[in-house]
Amino acid sequence: MRVPFFTPELTDDDVAAVSAALRSGWITAGPRVEAFECAFAERLGTRHAVAVNSCTAALHLANVLLNLGPGDEVIVPSLTFAATVNAVRFTGATPVFADITGPDDWCLDPCHVAALITPRTRAVVAMHYAGHPCDMTALAEICARHGIVLYEDAAHGLGGSLDGLPLGTLGMIGCFSFFSNKGMTTAEGGMLVTDDDDFAARARRLRSHGQTATAIDREKGARGYEIAEIGFNYRMDDLRAALGLSQLARFNAMQIARRHLMRRYEERLSALRQIRLPHYGRRGVAADYLLPVLVERGDRDALRARLADTGVQTSVHYPPVHLFAPYRQDRPSLPHTERVAAQSFSLPLFPTMRDEQVDYVCDALARIFAEVQAA
Ligand SMILES: Cc1ncc(COP(=O)(O)O)c(C=O)c1O
Repeated sequence: MRVPFFTPELTDDDVAAVSAALRSGWITAGPRVEAFECAFAERLGTRHAVAVNSCTAALHLANVLLNLGPGDEVIVPSLTFAATVNAVRFTGATPVFADITGPDDWCLDPCHVAALITPRTRAVVAMHYAGHPCDMTALAEICARHGIVLYEDAAHGLGGSLDGLPLGTLGMIGCFSFFSNKGMTTAEGGMLVTDDDDFAARARRLRSHGQTATAIDREKGARGYEIAEIGFNYRMDDLRAALGLSQLARFNAMQIARRHLMRRYEERLSALRQIRLPHYGRRGVAADYLLPVLVERGDRDALRARLADTGVQTSVHYPPVHLFAPYRQDRPSLPHTERVAAQSFSLPLFPTMRDEQVDYVCDALARIFAEVQAA
């Protein structure tokens, strides 16, 4: 591909950090995991950050911390990656799908969320689509009124903020992903952040089988351990944490690069009437993680195929979760989600992308639209 959809930025510093971890002889959860958690909590201004091996693990732990189970309902978006919803199902609770607000705001619609609340509703999951802040003020007000919990799938959110507060710190719990194509990476990895001391202590136990002391605690002098409750193996290791520390130190620079590219795309693409750039209500500061566009005129899949022919790789975020096999039995009415999911796709965006590559993508789009119009 002449312009790949995404390439992670991996530098000599990253390689040196992972090599140093390997050479240290401590490769499972140890001092680098602790250091990564401290650095992440400090960046976000949260009391606690608990490193895990994926955002899916963090989302599952969030649901376990809320003691969700069969009979409970959790309101979720459908325009998200399946993990947001699967993690609710892991507990036996029922995900209830809410629509997005509309073509200019692809995050949860607070009015629809309010309409879906029942006596069984226990939580609402806000997913900051493409790094654009959800209307957390409205969602928090609804949740407070009904005595239910609001938590965040902030997989796209690192670097974004609302009213000066980082995304992921606006709900009871925030869950981040460090999968290879995220704003920063540990290859696979995730982080659960919270200000609640009890949640954090329990999340630390649950990520390691429910153990009251792990290998690093025993190294520091703890004797033996109890299994306080049945947990999981969701631990991050020191190799990933070393990469995470190195990437986090560079995160601002990577985000500045993404923002520069985003502005260049916006300037070039605003002239094309066949596609609509998402404005997302321009709430807060976006993380600028993805660049999805809505095809207003024409066939999305045909356009993607023609872009691929010119060497431009694109992606779709996302096929709606409520239409996947495990969820499609009671088909809810989500007109905005279905329209956006059917007509949107995401353009290449990654920190090492060059201006000429943005121009190449924009020229290719303009050429294809001109050819379609002439035909
Ligand atoms: C919105 C969203 N939530 C959750 C996840 C799951 O993240 P992970 O792969 O770290 O488990 C992803 C990953 O793509 C995502 O995009």
